[in-house]
Amino acid sequence: MHELYTVLAEYYDAIYRRRAKRVSREIDFVEELFQNEAEGEVRKILDLACGTGIPTLELARRGYQVTGLDLHEEMLAVARRKAGAEGLDIEFIRGNALGIDFEEEFDAVTMFFSSIMYFDDSAIQELFNSVKRTLRPGGVFVADFPCWFYGGSDGPIVWDEQKGDERLVITDWREVEPAFQKLHFKRLVQVLKPDGSVKTFLVNDELNIYTPREMRLLAEKHFRKVKIYGDGHELRPSDRRYWLVAVK
Ligand SMILES: C[S@@+](CC[C@H](N)C(=O)[O-])C[C@H]1O[C@@H](n2cnc3c(N)ncnc32)[C@H](O)[C@@H]1O
Repeated sequence: MHELYTVLAEYYDAIYRRRAKRVSREIDFVEELFQNEAEGEVRKILDLACGTGIPTLELARRGYQVTGLDLHEEMLAVARRKAGAEGLDIEFIRGNALGIDFEEEFDAVTMFFSSIMYFDDSAIQELFNSVKRTLRPGGVFVADFPCWFYGGSDGPIVWDEQKGDERLVITDWREVEPAFQKLHFKRLVQVLKPDGSVKTFLVNDELNIYTPREMRLLAEKHFRKVKIYGDGHELRPSDRRYWLVAVK
């Protein structure tokens, strides 16, 4: 498990290059959510499961005081290097999102790019408790997660990317256990070197599927105000990505 965040950490940004291009639009929407839903100004943000810092750095570029936290040192090393190169002052902490012990220190907590799917029914309750403790009253938690019930094939999706002089060929597929709402996410990454040699990595992750209604009901046990948005707007029937917005 977690090969994507350890042995492949240096390739993460190349694998998700297309998503990184959309991050500015993503953060425009998050800023709208801060303005519409948080009670009081948002200045200080804790970005949980920050990974290589794709959204973390964008928040810092916009002037927020940001702390990034992630389980994997390999991901944080990439994030620190990128922040240093841009002269951004971001504190990066290695830790488990479930073990955080901040007391009402942040105006907002964020968790981007489906990271919330790593938490099962009981862990997500623990996560909500930790986030709630971390937020000041009126502070907001924002997390996005995908729709896995959308029609379409579960068969392999293949694409390629370039990282320096290496070519990456990425093959994704998924296996869903409907009864348990578990998603087994599989990814084969082949790294083709200029000398013709190939390195192969297999990613095998287990994720938890939540519907918007389930997410809302779970969050309502912990937060005063909970709303599920669609991707960049109010929730619509055709949305394929959802945003949980929960106010302490
Ligand atoms: C899909 S990546 C998202 C990274 C980043 N938020 C982004 O938007 O690119 C998921 C991240 O969650 C982190 N992660 C998984 N479980 C975690 C936990 N219990 N506590 C902290 N980080 C965790 C992984 O190390 C990985 O960096």
